[in-house]
Amino acid sequence: MAQKDRVNIALIGQGFMGRTHSNGWGQVSRFFKTPVKAVMHTVFGMPNEDPAAMAARWGWQNSSNDWQAVVNSPEIDLVDIVTPNFMHAPPAKAAIAAGKAVACEKPIAGTLAEAREMAEAAKKAKVKTFVWYNYRRVPAVALAHRLVKQGAIGEIRHVRAKYLQDWADESVPLLWRFDKKLSGSGAHGDLNAHIIDMTRFVTGGEITEISGAIAETFIKERKIMSGVAAGGIAAGMKSDKAEMGKVTVDDTVLFLAKFNNGAVGSYEAARQATGNQNRNGFEINGSKGSLKFDFEDMNYLEFYDATRPREVQGWTKIMCTHGGSHPYVENWWPDAHILGYEHTFANQAFDILQVLAGNEPTVPIPDFQDAYQTQRVMEAALICAKEKHAIKMSDVK
Ligand SMILES: NC(=O)c1ccc[n+]([C@@H]2O[C@H](COP(=O)([O-])OP(=O)(O)OC[C@H]3O[C@@H](n4cnc5c(N)ncnc54)[C@H](O)[C@@H]3O)[C@@H](O)[C@H]2O)c1
Repeated sequence: MAQKDRVNIALIGQGFMGRTHSNGWGQVSRFFKTPVKAVMHTVFGMPNEDPAAMAARWGWQNSSNDWQAVVNSPEIDLVDIVTPNFMHAPPAKAAIAAGKAVACEKPIAGTLAEAREMAEAAKKAKVKTFVWYNYRRVPAVALAHRLVKQGAIGEIRHVRAKYLQDWADESVPLLWRFDKKLSGSGAHGDLNAHIIDMTRFVTGGEITEISGAIAETFIKERKIMSGVAAGGIAAGMKSDKAEMGKVTVDDTVLFLAKFNNGAVGSYEAARQATGNQNRNGFEINGSKGSLKFDFEDMNYLEFYDATRPREVQGWTKIMCTHGGSHPYVENWWPDAHILGYEHTFANQAFDILQVLAGNEPTVPIPDFQDAYQTQRVMEAALICAKEKHAIKMSDVK
């Protein structure tokens, strides 16, 4: 590290996640008592973007169009990667080779082979790595993890996870998200990746077998775009070109899973589930109780305590905004002064700084090895959908 009381960060990419991470790094040392200061050193953008404007707007000290120079700069301690999935492995491996800590967006990579190489390189170089499965850092989800660990719902039997969105109708052009070479998969890598990680995190269980997978692409062609960097999903993107290109990823992937603790689970990811805008959630049923979470109502965790007298059993809707009781909240606002999506990134930024300083994170934070396990489950589901038979996780390396 350039100086022990600070971490100089380089951000590789300046799209949707470029903004959420810039906000997270900008807020973290204001709201949290961080063990080291987060310094927003350099932001990288593509030649057709304007990283100098991005830097001026979000508070980065420097900007660049040359990611290799940024990653290799002796001034940089932590490389934070927010590029499309095919562009995770190159900067991550370069940063690891330069001995830097690396934080990378999810899924860890576009392909399982790249994910494995990244995890192996990080292990060999003994550098610290982090993957932005940020939904672990929603206070309600972190609380669910703690409650399961405390035994509040007993032995887990059912896991139901879904991540449904509805932004991807025919009017949306051929963003990098619809091109297998650039993304690896569609709704699967975008959405199932999150709920696989979240349910592994909350239940503490590992998936051992996948069956019944279905992958479907409803919209097979979309209008082409001018470049991979041009496609944010928030802006209602339109293409001015008439020419169509082929969609090479799924729009939806469903699958069933068995866990090593005896539980069974179902997973659904979809981008055209009309009326569901960011419905990322789970229901987990155990022998003593159940938990329910829905990101569209993200400040709440629902808890059914089956150890209470039968006459008063029922779902309790817990508002997870009480500082001191609910994870992360003491750093933000008083009770019920609601938290949002952006807070999860500052919460993760804090935990990254904690780990870099040798402290424990608030709740476990996935490293490359951990995210590689999620990628193996993703791969098994795609093999299952293609070959139409159950896949044992031990057969997926
Ligand atoms: N954690 C979450 O909630 C979440 C949400 C959305 C996206 N993501 C992940 O974040 C990553 C980026 O997604 P996004 O929505 O920000 O995408 P985006 O298209 O909005 O931005 C991607 C940025 O990457 C850079 N880039 C594009 N092509 C590049 C190339 N060839 N070489 C180097 N840089 C390039 C550009 O700066 C571009 O702006 C993906 O891996 C995605 O899966 C995570």
